[in-house]
Amino acid sequence: MRIYSVIAALVSTAVLTFAPAVGSTQSFEITYLAPPGKPAREFPDPKRPVAEIVSPRRSTEQQRDAFDESGQLARLLAIKPGMTVGDIGAGSGYHTVRLSRLLGRAGHVIAQDVTQDYLNQLANRIKRLKLSNVRFALGEPHDPRLPPASLDVAILVHMYHEVAQPYAFLYNLAPALKHGARVGIVDLDRRISQHGTPLELLRCELAALGYRQIALHQLTGDAAYLAVFSPPNEANRKPPRDIVPCNVANR
Ligand SMILES: C[S@@+](CC[C@H](N)C(=O)[O-])C[C@H]1O[C@@H](n2cnc3c(N)ncnc32)[C@H](O)[C@@H]1O
Repeated sequence: MRIYSVIAALVSTAVLTFAPAVGSTQSFEITYLAPPGKPAREFPDPKRPVAEIVSPRRSTEQQRDAFDESGQLARLLAIKPGMTVGDIGAGSGYHTVRLSRLLGRAGHVIAQDVTQDYLNQLANRIKRLKLSNVRFALGEPHDPRLPPASLDVAILVHMYHEVAQPYAFLYNLAPALKHGARVGIVDLDRRISQHGTPLELLRCELAALGYRQIALHQLTGDAAYLAVFSPPNEANRKPPRDIVPCNVANR
């Protein structure tokens, strides 16, 4: 574990390098924060559709602020200054920006995504806003590539239906969570093709890995749910060969 942490620290120093400015937009070299976990080929196929990545955001930030989406998540997940929160599938950074302000100088946001271009645009936004507690992490569709025991909370907002390899993704996410950490998943209780994840399907896929649901909330003023899970520890995380894929209707 110590060698792994040293490698992760070395990788992370190379994480964000600034290239010369082009106009007001800069290019950033954003890469993985940790070595690869288990490869996708070891995991079962999800046996369900996966939504395409079509946008870095869900609706406008004004619409989301009107029902205080970020405040609701912070309260329901007990997010406090000084914590480290992973915004997995951060997109254009609606939550990253608001979390950065909430977490303060002693806390951190790790803004993670599989789309390099979205991360680059977000890095520009964060630089313009002069927010200094945000780190960026590139992920792979089956592996968030985050340092071990780095997160108090992981939020996955309107992105789970786009995760192409959910079993591998959840397996490789678990080691990044500290003891006692929570995973908050926000999505719409509707078909994957309509950019949602039916709740029954979500629960089944998380349970297949050993995640335990600890709360379920309906966001006020929005159609989305927030499902909160406790991740499995090393001892009770299902090994890939024991994962039974879900056979739940996608409706
Ligand atoms: C609809 S956007 C939502 C962005 C943001 N969370 C929000 O609520 O506005 C979905 C994001 O998830 C990202 N994404 C899709 N699959 C992913 C994966 N396996 N790991 C990390 N990010 C992923 C996409 O690139 C996209 O930025």
